[in-house]
Amino acid sequence: MKRACVIGWPVEHSRSPLIHRYWLKQYGIDGAYEKEAVRPEELAQFLGSLEERGYAGCNVTLPHKEAALQAASIADEAARAIGAANTLWLDDSGRLNAGNTDAYGFITNLNAAAPGWNDEGRPVMVLGAGGAARAIVHGLLAEGAAHIMLANRTRGRADALAAAFGPPVTAVDWQQRGSALAGCGLLVNATSLGMTGKDPLDLDLAELPPKAVVADIVYAPLETELLAAARARGNRTVDGLGMLLHQAVPGFARWFGVRPEVSPGLRDHIAASLGEG
Ligand SMILES: NC(=O)c1ccc[n+]([C@@H]2O[C@H](COP(=O)([O-])OP(=O)(O)OC[C@H]3O[C@@H](n4cnc5c(N)ncnc54)[C@H](OP(=O)(O)O)[C@@H]3O)[C@@H](O)[C@H]2O)c1
Repeated sequence: MKRACVIGWPVEHSRSPLIHRYWLKQYGIDGAYEKEAVRPEELAQFLGSLEERGYAGCNVTLPHKEAALQAASIADEAARAIGAANTLWLDDSGRLNAGNTDAYGFITNLNAAAPGWNDEGRPVMVLGAGGAARAIVHGLLAEGAAHIMLANRTRGRADALAAAFGPPVTAVDWQQRGSALAGCGLLVNATSLGMTGKDPLDLDLAELPPKAVVADIVYAPLETELLAAARARGNRTVDGLGMLLHQAVPGFARWFGVRPEVSPGLRDHIAASLGEG
C-alpha cells in the first residue's frame, strides 16, 4: 500500500487529507493519506525516516516549508525560487526531493477560472508579502505579468520581496493599496485578512477597472468580503479553494502514480467541509 501524509505544527486544520482521500477513493487506489503533527525540533529526524515510516512523500505546511527545502537533497526550480517547499517525495534512489506547487496551483486555477486575465498586459496588484505572496509573484512572472505591485502592512517585507524578484516587481505603501488599483488588470489578496476569525481586509475598490479580475487566496469563507464586493461591481472573481485543490495535484501524481482531476465533485466535497456548498 502506498502512503503519504501532511506534516505541520499544528496540522489539525489541514484540508489535504480530505482532498487526497477523495482522489484515492475515486481512482480505486490502495493507498492512505495521514496527518502527522511534527514539532519543529523533530522535523529533520522525521524527514530522515520517511521511508522507514512507509511514506512515499508528504505535503508540508506551516511552519516547516523553509526547513523542508533545506532538508531535501534535490529541489525543483519553483521551490528554489520561492525558498520554500510544500511537497516532498522520495525518488528511486531514496533521495528526498522538494517541490513547491503553490505557484502552479494559483496560476492553473487563475487560468481556468479567468481565462485571458493577462491579455492586455495590465499591472497586477498583490496584497501581502508572506510565503504565499512570494509563490504567487513567482507564478505571475513566469506567466508573463509585466508589472507587479506589492502592498504589505510591513513595508520592509514588500521591499525585500521586490528586490528579490527585480524590476518588474515594485513595492507600494499599504496606505496606497486602494489608489494604486487604477489601471490594474488583476488584484490578488495574498494576506490572511478576510479569513474567518481574522481582521477584515479594508480596501476601497473604486479605482479598480471594471474589467479587472479579483482573486482571493483565502478560502474560508469561500466568498470573502473582497470577492463579494468585487462581484457586486461586476469584476470577475477567483476564489482560494481552486488554488488549494490544484496545488495538491502534482504531489498526488508523484506518490500514487495517477494525475488526478480537479472536478466539480471534489470542489463540492471540500466546500462542504468549509460549511459551504
Ligand atoms: N488557497 C490556498 O491554496 C492558499 C495557499 C497558501 C496560503 N493561503 C492563505 O494565504 C494567507 C497567507 O498565507 P502565508 O503563508 O503567506 O502567510 P504569512 O507568510 O504568515 O503572511 C501573512 C501575510 O498577511 C499579512 N497580514 C496578516 N495580518 C495582517 C493585518 N492585520 N493587517 C495587514 N496585513 C496582515 C502579513 O503582513 P505583514 O508582513 O505585515 O505581517 C503577510 O503579508 C493565509 O490566510 C493562508 O491560509 C491559501
